[in-house]
Amino acid sequence: MATAGKVIRCKAAVAWEPNKPLVMEEIEVAPPEANEVRIKIVATSVCHTDLHHLLENMPKEGFPTVLGHEAAGIVESVGPGVTEYQPGDKVVPLFIRQCRNCHFCKNPKTNQCVDAWAATSRYNVMAPPTSRFTCKGKEILQFTGTSTFAEYTVVHETAVAKIDPAAPLDKVCLLACGVSTGYGAAVNTAKVEPGSTCAVFGLGAVGLAAVMGCRNAGAKKIIAVDTNPDKFEKAKVFGATDFVNPKDHDKPISQVLMGMTGGGVDFSLECVGNVEVMRSAFESCIAGYGVSVVVGFTDLHDVCTRPVQLISGKTWTGSGFGGFKGRDGIPMMVKAYLDKKVMLDEFITHTMPLERVNEAIQLMRDGKCIRTVLTVAQE
Ligand code: APR
Ligand code: ZN
Repeated sequence: MATAGKVIRCKAAVAWEPNKPLVMEEIEVAPPEANEVRIKIVATSVCHTDLHHLLENMPKEGFPTVLGHEAAGIVESVGPGVTEYQPGDKVVPLFIRQCRNCHFCKNPKTNQCVDAWAATSRYNVMAPPTSRFTCKGKEILQFTGTSTFAEYTVVHETAVAKIDPAAPLDKVCLLACGVSTGYGAAVNTAKVEPGSTCAVFGLGAVGLAAVMGCRNAGAKKIIAVDTNPDKFEKAKVFGATDFVNPKDHDKPISQVLMGMTGGGVDFSLECVGNVEVMRSAFESCIAGYGVSVVVGFTDLHDVCTRPVQLISGKTWTGSGFGGFKGRDGIPMMVKAYLDKKVMLDEFITHTMPLERVNEAIQLMRDGKCIRTVLTVAQE
C-alpha cells in the first residue's frame, strides 16, 4: 500500500472534553509499531459504552479521545513482527484482547486475558506506551485501545479478529461489542438449556441479542422485560414469547415473574447496567438451580441481595463480551451470521455517515434506535 510506513492524515470524530458534542477533525495516525496493525475502518456503530464514557463517568484525564469500539475494517498495513494479518484482510478490532499465551487465554473457562484491559487501565491510552493519534499538536487518546470513530486506527495484534472475506462489514461491525455481548451471555455464560424458561431485562441491542441467544439455545419461554414498551415488537422478532413492563405492576418485578413461571425462571440476564435491575433479575430466578447473568455495565454502585437468595442455590454471575475470546469467537459469530444462524440486519435501525455521529449519539440517548451504523469508507 502506498500509505504503509507513512503517517496518514484522515478524518475522525474527536471528543475534546466530557459532555460536549464530538468534533470532526483531521488527525494524524502514525504507522503501526511492533506487533501493531493499522486498520482502515469501513463501518462503526454507536454503543451505550461510548455514551457512558462521554456523558457519565469519565475523569477529564480520559480526554481528548476518539470514541467508538464497535467496528469492522480492512488491514492497511502491519508493524514489525506481525505474521497473522496482512494488508487487505477483513478484520474486527477488539476491546478485550486475546494474547493466547497467558493463563487466562489458555483456560477455556474464561475470556479474560492478562492484557485484556491493558488498553483501558490508563484512561484508555493504547498500551504501551502511548496513542498513535495526534490532532493540532496534541496527543489524542485511544478509547478502549480501539477508537473507531475514525477513518484509520492502530490496534495491538492481540486486539484483532480476522474474519471471512465474504462478510459485509457494515453489518458484522455489530459483532464487535453489543450483539456478541448479549448473545454470548446467554449461550456461553448462562449456558441456556433447551426447554428452559428465561427472562431478559433491558431490550437494547445487548438484550435483544440475549433474547436471540436464548432462542437459539432452545429456550421454550423467553420473557422480555423493559420499561419502554416500544421495544416489545422488536423483541418478538428475536424470539421473545412474553412481555413485561415493570411500570404496569405495583409488585416487585421478581414476584411478577415468579408468579408467571411457578417459582422463578431458569435463567435471567440483566442487560441494562442498573444495580436495582441486577437484583430483580437475580431474585427472579428459581431457587435451587436458577442462574442470573450480569451483562449491563456499571461500576459506580454496590449490588446487593439477601444471602438466603444465594444459600437457596441460585447462581449469580456475569460476563464481559459474552465470554467470547475475541480472536477465536468473533470469526465464529461472523460465520454464524453468514450461515443465517444469527441475525444482525434486524438490529440496525439507522445508517448514516460518520460526520453525523452526534445525531447517532442523540438517537441512543433518546432510546430511539437499536443500533445506528456509521459508514466510514467503501469496502
Ligand atoms: N427495567 C427494564 N428495562 C430498563 C430499565 C429498567 N429499570 N431501565 C432501562 N431499561 C431499558 C431501556 O428502556 C432500554 O431499552 O434497557 C434498555 C437498554 O438499552 P440501550 O440503552 O440500547 O443499551 P445497550 O446498548 O443494549 O446496552 C445495555 O449493556 O454493554 C452494556 O454499557 C452497556 O450498560 C449498557 C447495557
Ligand atoms: Zn491472554
